[in-house]
Order: sequence, then structure tokens, then C-alpha cells
Amino acid sequence: MRLHEKFGHVLTWTTLVNALPSTSGQINQPSCRFAHKHSQKQILHDPTGFIYDMLYWEGKFHQNNISYNSNNGISYDGTNIDWVTGKATVKHTFSAASKESLQIMLYTHAVAGSPEAARFLSPENSAEAPRIAAYIMQKKLQTYLKFNETYPGFGGFLPWVSADTQDMTPRPDWVNRVPGLDNGELVWAVYGFIQALENTGNKNYQELAQKWQVWMDYTKTTAAKIFYKGNGRVCTVIDIKDQSLPVNHPDQSYLCETKDLLDDPFEGEIFTFWLQFFGGLSKADKQALWEVKKSQLVSVDYKMGEFGPITVQKDQRRWLNSETGFWFSSHETWKVLQMPYYDIDLVRRVFANAERVRTCNSVATKLPGMFASINNITDPSTGDVTGYISNAGIPSISNQTVQELDVITPYSVFPTILINKSVGLVWWRSMVVAKKMQNIYGSTESTRIDGTGVSALLTWDSKVTTVVAILGGVTNFVRQKMKADNIYDEFVGIIEAEYSRVFTHLEGEDVDFCLPQETVPDVGLVDFTLCK
Ligand SMILES: *[C@@H]1O[C@H](CO)[C@@H](O)[C@H](O)[C@H]1NC(C)=O
Ligand SMILES: *[C@@H]1O[C@H](CO)[C@@H](O)[C@H](O)[C@H]1NC(C)=O
Ligand SMILES: *[C@@H]1O[C@H](CO)[C@@H](O)[C@H](O)[C@H]1NC(C)=O
Ligand SMILES: *[C@@H]1O[C@H](CO)[C@@H](O)[C@H](O)[C@H]1NC(C)=O
Ligand SMILES: *[C@@H]1O[C@H](CO)[C@@H](O)[C@H](O)[C@H]1NC(C)=O
Repeated sequence: MRLHEKFGHVLTWTTLVNALPSTSGQINQPSCRFAHKHSQKQILHDPTGFIYDMLYWEGKFHQNNISYNSNNGISYDGTNIDWVTGKATVKHTFSAASKESLQIMLYTHAVAGSPEAARFLSPENSAEAPRIAAYIMQKKLQTYLKFNETYPGFGGFLPWVSADTQDMTPRPDWVNRVPGLDNGELVWAVYGFIQALENTGNKNYQELAQKWQVWMDYTKTTAAKIFYKGNGRVCTVIDIKDQSLPVNHPDQSYLCETKDLLDDPFEGEIFTFWLQFFGGLSKADKQALWEVKKSQLVSVDYKMGEFGPITVQKDQRRWLNSETGFWFSSHETWKVLQMPYYDIDLVRRVFANAERVRTCNSVATKLPGMFASINNITDPSTGDVTGYISNAGIPSISNQTVQELDVITPYSVFPTILINKSVGLVWWRSMVVAKKMQNIYGSTESTRIDGTGVSALLTWDSKVTTVVAILGGVTNFVRQKMKADNIYDEFVGIIEAEYSRVFTHLEGEDVDFCLPQETVPDVGLVDFTLCK
């Protein structure tokens, strides 16, 4: 039986980890401040023990009423934590398709029997992890189906939602509106999840796969009607005439909210692929999708001090009217967690260069960590964060040359981890050893580089992107299903053609990844009292 094989795999892995010299004393409950107990050198040599401790604590985020609602299976964006103790206080009652995508990617590995996913979800009893994931996914499906029944105008896709009631509802500011980018992340996560369930050979899991497939197939029938506007144009946000009317109702209509197109060659691209493969578009329309995007894929050489030139993909795009933009923030690399881009050798090489740049830029500018769009620090007098910093990345190789570069975040390392686990993890460690950057739910959202403040917040974005990267993304499952669906070769063909058109010569492939050399200064912040 396949499941037994998986459990065998669990045992092997656990045995392996137990056999390692443990620096954390106990195997089952590593110390909360474990980052101080592992040295950079040790992690570079072998990150296994560090990962084992990390997954244990990050997994504490996975609790009902903290990161998700066990009644309906829906994720919560995150939760504030107490400035002194670090205990969860007020949660974000909302979520979005992108957070759902992270949750589903995690569960994909759990049902597949991954010991790392089990360490996160159920460290006391790893054999339970697949069941926990499947159970929550069953609830989630019921909630999605009910949502579609009540708000058929979304065509199965999700807006930002309120998730703290049994039935999820559009957030007040998302009534009659739906975004493309986040939904691309959601549908491809479901795609991989279905494959993982099918692979188990377990009848109950395969039934669940079939039910999810019905939901997913429905979004294929509505995607173009809602988001595609002809001539290759896909809109970033759609205004729905009336969310309670079915997609094909004569009074229903879908208009672009702004002139902004979802044409980026970054995280928005996987929605383009959904339309390409499943949207029922004509051959001409499919070609037009890529024509519109062509000018956005640009090569640029990074140079800073002693580092460079290193050729990377420029963040050329600028959206005028939406919050998401492009700054060479790690967030933009999301697409490679989900689709098998790294099967194309050139893409992998370009993205490896991006991590040379990301790590060496922080050394050149004397920073203890790296940038990604993230929540600003908490005002301790209110307990709330003071804003969201979108424009954080690397100015010299992005469109947005004016950036706010004072807050670093652990999840900035997730693309680095996908290229080189050890290097990514020593940068992660370099940020979480700072004051208040670990709590009883794992890593904290972000810290100022001058050590004067942290964001006392936990989110799926800032924590689980890294966990999913450690698990290798879900590309193995997605590739398998793409081959079965006969779309894999077309994917490789398109991406190979696009990247080889732009990247004819790569500089800097011989540059070593850079390792952290600075630390966040201790200027008197006190660690969370519950995390020793
Ligand atoms: C759920 O969390 C909220 C804070 O977000 C808290 O006020 C409430 O008491 C919690 N409910 C339960 C049942 O723990
Ligand atoms: C979503 O709702 C529409 C309209 O009521 C219905 O035709 C469709 O079958 C529903 N989709 C799923 C997956 O149930
Ligand atoms: C972040 O907080 C700092 C003060 O700590 C402030 O100067 C800056 O304007 C804030 N930025 C955003 C986008 O909230
Ligand atoms: C940024 O994008 C805008 C609009 O697409 C373009 O006009 C401008 O030249 C770009 N700037 C840089 C520095 O790439
Ligand atoms: C990761 O980078 C380190 C440091 O540059 C190097 O020693 C190691 O071989 C790399 N590992 C892989 C898998 O590329």
C-alpha cells in the first residue's frame, strides 16, 4: 500500500534526524529560540536539524482561530500578537485566494505523506497529518460550493473574503469585485492538490479529488468570460455587475476596473496559463496573450560595488492603480512555487542569478537580511501595524526606483531556498535571531534594519511561503498532472521561447551566493516573554 510506504518514509526520515547530534536538547520540543542554537556554519554544512526545529515552531501557526477557521476550512490572513508575550491577540478575520493557495500547497505535501509537512501539521503524530489535511480540505470545498451558490457572479473564483462566519462572504470593499492574480495562485494549487490525492491510491482521497476536480473544472468554464477582454488583454481586477447573478445571466456583465492589465511575467503569469490551457480561447487569442506580455520580459545587468555584472529579469512593469507592483521583491517569484518553470534550464539559470543578486545586494549594502513587500512595524501603543510596505526590493533593477528600504522580512528568502536551501536558511536565521523575531508560533513578520521595531504579526504570506519553498513548491504534482492533461510540452515551449528571446547571454553565473555578514543591532527591544 502506498500509504504504508509513506509511513515507512516518515520513519526513515525521523530516524535520520534522531541520529544527528541534536543541538536543541529535546527532539520533540525544540527550544522556541532555536535559531540561536544553530550556527551559520552548521546550517551550511547540513540544514536538516535546523529545518526540523523550524517546521515544528512554524507549525504552531496552524491552529484553529489563528491561521484558519476549523468550522469552514478557510484560512485567515493572519493574527496580531501581544507586544510583550507574543501570544495571539486579534486575528485578521479576512482572507484571499493567495492565502488559500499557500494553505492548499501545504496540505498537498501532507496528503502526499511528506514527513516535513507532518512535522509542521502534526509533530506529535506524523501519521495523522494526511488525514488532518484532507479533513480541512473537505470543509473548504463545502464552503467554496456554498459561496458559489450564493454569489454565482464570481464564477467559482474568490474575492477577498470574510472567513470568520460559517459561510464566507465578500469583504465589504470586495463586493462585486474579483482579482485575477490571486485566483491564478488558487486554481493551480488545487490542480496540484488533486494530483497528490490521486497518487495516494486511497479510495476516500480519490473521491475527494474528484469533487475538487468538479469545482476546478467549473472555473475553467468561467475564466475567460470574466477576465478575458479580447486582443490578449486580461484585467487585474474585474468589476462584476451583480455578484448574485449567474455568469451567463443576460443582465450579468464584467468590466475591467482600471486600464491595468495582468500582463506581468511574474506571479500574475500563472493566471495567463490557466486561460491559455483551459479558457477555451481561439488559437489567435492564445497567441495574443503572449504578444501583450512580450515587452514586459526584460533583461538587465545588476552591478553594485564589487558585485556584478549579473544578468537578471528586470522588474519592468508598473501598475498604476493596484497595490501590487514590481520592485524585485521576493513576492514576485511566487510562480515558480507552483508551475515547473525550473524544468527550463535557462529559467532556472536566470532565477539562480536573481538569488546571487538578492544575497549579494544585501552584503553590498551592509544589510542583515533581504527585502520583500511586507507589513510595517507595530505601534506598541495600539498593537496594530502601521502600514504595508509594497515598494521594497532592489531599486536598480526594477521599475520602481524609489523604494522604502528600512524593514526586512524572513520570507524574503523563499526564492533563495528554492535555488539553494542552505544559503536561503542562513539568511532566514540571520533575520530571526534579531530581538522579537521568534515567538511561540515561529517567525515574526518583519523587523526594522536598525532594530528599533518589529511587526508583531503572523501571516501566511510571511511564514508559509518559506515552508512551502522548503517542501520544494508543488511543481512535482503540477508537472505530473500537466503531462496527463497533455499541456506540459506547450508550457515548456512557450516559456523556453519567451526566455530565450530575451536572455541570449547571462553574465555572472560564476558569482558565489553571498552569506550574511551583518546583524540587526540590539537597541533594547525585549524578546517575547513566552519564547525562550
Ligand atoms: C478567537 O480569537 C479571537 C481573537 O481573534 C478571540 O477574541 C476569541 O476569544 C477566540 N475564540 C476562541 C473560541 O478561542
Ligand atoms: C456554481 O454555480 C453555478 C450557477 O449556479 C452552477 O451552474 C455551477 O454548477 C456551480 N459550480 C459548482 C462547482 O458547483
Ligand atoms: C513605516 O514606518 C515608518 C516609521 O517606523 C514610517 O516612517 C514609514 O512611513 C512607514 N511606511 C509605511 C509604508 O507604512
Ligand atoms: C517604469 O514603467 C513605466 C510605465 O510602464 C515606464 O514609462 C518607465 O519608463 C519605467 N521606468 C523604468 C525605470 O523602468
Ligand atoms: C549552496 O551554496 C553553497 C555556498 O555557496 C555551496 O557550498 C553549495 O554547494 C550550494 N548547494 C547547492 C545544492 O547548490
